[in-house]
Amino acid sequence: MSNPSPSQTGADREPGVAMTLDRLGHPRVHVAPDYQSLCVAVAERIAHLVQVKPDAVLGLATGSTPIGIYQELVRLHQQIGLDFSGITCFNLDEYYPMDPGDDHSYHTFMQQHLFGSINCRNWQVPDGRERSLETIAEDCRRYEEAIEKAGGIDLQILGIGSTGHIGFNEPGSAPDSKTRLVDLDESTRLNAARDFGRLEHVPHQAVTMGISTILKSREIMLIASGAGKAAIVYTALNVLVTPLVPASLLQNHPNASFWLDSAAAQALEN
Ligand code: PGA
Repeated sequence: MSNPSPSQTGADREPGVAMTLDRLGHPRVHVAPDYQSLCVAVAERIAHLVQVKPDAVLGLATGSTPIGIYQELVRLHQQIGLDFSGITCFNLDEYYPMDPGDDHSYHTFMQQHLFGSINCRNWQVPDGRERSLETIAEDCRRYEEAIEKAGGIDLQILGIGSTGHIGFNEPGSAPDSKTRLVDLDESTRLNAARDFGRLEHVPHQAVTMGISTILKSREIMLIASGAGKAAIVYTALNVLVTPLVPASLLQNHPNASFWLDSAAAQALEN
């Protein structure tokens, strides 16, 4: 099925985005009035890329924030035939240890929220299966290689954790870090406890793309929704660039943008 023209998806405008905050330098900040219009705006950007570059490489995120974006992409696929058949996707991270078939795996999350409902067959999530450290390191190296072989990531979607993490790169992650096994911060595990039912069930580790893996993407869109993200969004944009706030490292990327709903932007607007 051929892709609809950009104007059919409205990608020649920014639907729902109320304003672009005036800032010097990077990242640019786009603010939508609410979560729904934020998701529509971000999905339109992704749809536009899929239309103009049918073999694009996407970097994708999990968590509660992108769910509405994926719903909108599924809608565009089902209702106007947006074609993902030539697209390659790499996800940011996976819990460790974690079987891909587990209800709590990010592999399952992506299948349920996106890939089970669109025609993209070429997608990967880092492997969270329990195995030797040597094998994990080798597989992480292969993940980096696969991204490079695919031509590098055209557009990386990110969430932001309350610690400022991007992927599972917690505070202190080295700017030159690559895909690897990491320890999760306790606050990250606490946030995940709602999904796992109990804190004790949340893994202590994860496999994540590194900071350098993320920063090599040609374009990066960080998405945040809700008042709970307002403080860390403000910090990420205004602190001097530091690995202690991993999202602040995006300030050094030439084509990174923050996409916020008005609640997540409230500290900036003040
Ligand atoms: P959230 O997670 O979308 O569930 O808030 C974001 C993140 O931790 O990166």
